[in-house]
Amino acid sequence: MKVAVFSARPYDRRFLDEASQRDGTGRAWEFLYFDAALDVHTAALAQGCAAVCVFVNDRLDAPVLHALHALGVRAVLLRCAGFNNVDVAAAEQLGLFVARVPAYSPEAVAEHTLALVMTLNRHTHRAYNRVREGNFMLDGLLGRTLHGRTVGIVGTGKIGLATARIFKGMGCTVLGHDPYPAPGFEGVGESVTLDVLLARADIVSLHCPLTPDTHHLINAGSLARMKPGAMLVNTSRGGLVDTQAVIQALKSRHLGHLAIDVYEQESALFFQDRSGEIIDDDAFQRLMTFPNVLVTGHQGFFTMEALQEISAITLGNLNDFAAGRACPNRVTAAG
Ligand code: NAI
Repeated sequence: MKVAVFSARPYDRRFLDEASQRDGTGRAWEFLYFDAALDVHTAALAQGCAAVCVFVNDRLDAPVLHALHALGVRAVLLRCAGFNNVDVAAAEQLGLFVARVPAYSPEAVAEHTLALVMTLNRHTHRAYNRVREGNFMLDGLLGRTLHGRTVGIVGTGKIGLATARIFKGMGCTVLGHDPYPAPGFEGVGESVTLDVLLARADIVSLHCPLTPDTHHLINAGSLARMKPGAMLVNTSRGGLVDTQAVIQALKSRHLGHLAIDVYEQESALFFQDRSGEIIDDDAFQRLMTFPNVLVTGHQGFFTMEALQEISAITLGNLNDFAAGRACPNRVTAAG
């Protein structure tokens, strides 16, 4: 059976091929790798395939799902945890099997969150360039000692909890906000309302999924409730943050620092080499002008361990689909 793998980078090919060799089911599947992201124009590439394998910026709205179904596709395999890019109700109506990788290495994203905070706080991104140019001045590189500071974790699920543990280990006071707090969070931090978290935290780190309820969770109102000079970190999904509101908060100097691994309009930019082109996204370009903003291109998940786990679980989901078995990672409209 053939599987069309969209948004496939060389590392996707390497880890999926390795997993199918290890798993022994490799011969049952023929992976067709496509650089292109899935959308209504590229769906036709899945002609003759039983399944598509997709990533965060592939588009699986109703028109795309209908097109795939008409081509004979019966399964959608997400190589990621979040599934905000899938119209799950439409998939269900079409009888499509949808499965994701709910957890692979929460620590990978948590550690990247720490890397962003440490870099921005101690300006190592600027120090790196300065020292290479023979400039050893320290002016402009002043940071804060993280020990003793307050970190607010919005969404204390798997990644939020791993992040909370790291900051607790560094001697920070940890606050968490989650309508369904993970049981493990009790021993790590204090559960509070979002308003209390925003008012008390020196660093606010987002780890909740993007849903209609959490869209623009960070907006002009919530930014105003944050402490002056606080740092906002988003390694979850771009749509959680209203980019225009954040730009205003940076311009007014109310928001002290911004670190993001995800961006609202990232699908037009991320996972591509646009270095020789003019980037039309004015909001993104404005963000790039702030010295106190750090952006990475959705690489929180990007460790060897996480990619091995993602490939192995994706293959397990595919095998469950083929065997008609119950799949623990199936995504349904009911949750
Ligand atoms: P999870 O499902 O274990 O935890 C999410 C938590 O958010 C849950 O406890 C849930 O109750 C909570 N939540 C839901 N609505 C909320 C709200 N309004 N306010 C506060 N909390 C709320 O998910 P996990 O594995 O921790 O992943 C979190 C997110 O991280 C994913 O949804 C995904 O968007 C993102 N992610 C980013 C990656 C990257 O490379 N940057 C890689 C993997 C995931």
